[in-house]
Order: sequence, then structure tokens, then C-alpha cells
Amino acid sequence: MAPTLTLISKSMITIENIHKSFGALEVLKGIDLHIDKGEVVSIVGPSGAGKTTLLQIIGTLDKPDAGRVVVDGIDTSKLSTRKLSDFRNQHLGFVFQFHQLLPEFTALENIMIPAYIAGVSQKEAKKRAKELLAFMGLSERASHKPNELSGGEKQRVAVARALINNPAVILADEPSGSLDSKNKQELHQLFFDLRDKFGQTFVIVTHDEGLAELTDRTIHLKDGVVVGESAKKEEESVDEVETIVTDGDNLSLV
Ligand SMILES: Nc1ncnc2c1ncn2[C@@H]1O[C@H](COP(=O)(O)OP(=O)(O)O)[C@@H](O)[C@H]1O
Ligand SMILES: [Mg+2]
Repeated sequence: MAPTLTLISKSMITIENIHKSFGALEVLKGIDLHIDKGEVVSIVGPSGAGKTTLLQIIGTLDKPDAGRVVVDGIDTSKLSTRKLSDFRNQHLGFVFQFHQLLPEFTALENIMIPAYIAGVSQKEAKKRAKELLAFMGLSERASHKPNELSGGEKQRVAVARALINNPAVILADEPSGSLDSKNKQELHQLFFDLRDKFGQTFVIVTHDEGLAELTDRTIHLKDGVVVGESAKKEEESVDEVETIVTDGDNLSLV
């Protein structure tokens, strides 16, 4: 059966004409993207292409020099710094290459932190954190500190932390970059399980071709511009594969 996601047309992320320079270095040169609710999109491209900068701008952790970022119907350029941090806390979840868990707190406590910041009661935060740990298959690890967890476990705790406030969008920067192949595969499967269960939208920067191939759509970034886009190859409807390449030289699209 073909997935029914094509029926969902609500735009979750719209970015228009994003420009960003660091000093004289122009890193993003006019990026436009539309990402629908429930889509899992990967961003690939050579090192230095601007992937992390773009993800940080989508995540409102950095401001563009020009252009607009609308997430979940909210024009983020109109929010004050204070409102932006509330916005991130409530609408976005972040997963980085290195888990960035706080070493002195247990797995359960790390997951609860964004809920505390959102003003959720301790009882409620704990309940939800326990549910997430169970979903991740990590109930036995609730009271372990990060240095007592394996790399794959730490990354799953980081995903649970990203999910605690039930954000509409998860942004991940090289999330499996520090994992071995088994843990990598498990983490990738987890993203799709979460999308299927909770309907989250994922934007994942990755070097991992295996992961990019699994995502609904892959955006190819090079030298600060989108040079191509490829949709997932559906086994039953190969005809529908849409591949758009505007600068073919270094791309290997499927
Ligand atoms: N805060 C910054 N100050 C100066 N240069 C930066 C900063 N962040 C990124 N860059 C530069 O911008 C370019 C794109 O970086 P980045 O977005 O991290 O690329 P990618 O994630 O695709 O490897 C690189 O040349 C990088 O050195
Ligand atoms: Mg990067």
C-alpha cells in the first residue's frame, strides 16, 4: 500500500528566500523550502554546504539576514527573543550528533527538563518521561546517568527529551553520526515509528545515504543553494519518482 501522507497537504514549515552570511562568507544564498506536516525530509550535501546553518535557522537558533521562516503557522521573524525561546520549547525538538545530555542527571531527569521549562508539573513530566522511556525500550535505564548508557541508548534518551513537549517538528543534525551501524538503524527506524505514531514532521541533516533513501524527500544543498531534490522511490510506483536536478555535476540521485 502506498502511504496516505500525500493526502495531508498542510504546510508545517515554509522558508522563503533565506540568506545568511558570516562576515564576507555567504553561507546561504536564497533558500526556499516547503515541508508538509508528517513529512520526513533529509538534507544532504558536502561538508560546508550550509546544512547546519540552515537547520539552525529553521530552528530559530540563528537568525537569517533576509527571508522568512514560518513554522506551524507562526511567522518566527515576528517573535521577540523571549517569545522565541517559548516557541522553541513548545513547537520544536532538537537532536544533535552528540547527545548533549546533562551528565549529572539521570535519563529520566534529562527527558523531563524541557517539560519543567514549559511549566509542566513534576508529576505530569515524570509520567510522560516514563511513557517515552517505555516507547524507546529504555524503562530499565530510567535511573542511569549518561555515562552509564551506551551510545545508542544516549541518543534514544536525547530523542525522548526532544519529544517530551510533543513538538510538531523534530530537527536533527547528523543524529546517527556517532553511532555504529546497528544503533544507527534502530535510531532511523525510531524516527519513522514516531512519525507514524505521533505524526511529527522531521527535518534530518545527514551524511548517511541509507537514512536519506528512507526519507520521503531529500534536499540536496551545495554552496548555500538547493541544487536538487529527490523523492523517495516507492517500490510499487517507480514511475512516480520525481527527480529534479538543477546542477547535476556532483549529485548521485536515485
Ligand atoms: N558561526 C559561524 N561563524 C563563521 N562561519 C561559520 C559559522 N557557522 C558556520 N560557518 C561557516 O559556514 C559554512 C557552512 O557551515 P555549516 O552550515 O556548518 O555547513 P555544513 O553543516 O553543511 O557542514 C562553513 O564554511 C562554516 O565554516
Ligand atoms: Mg553540519
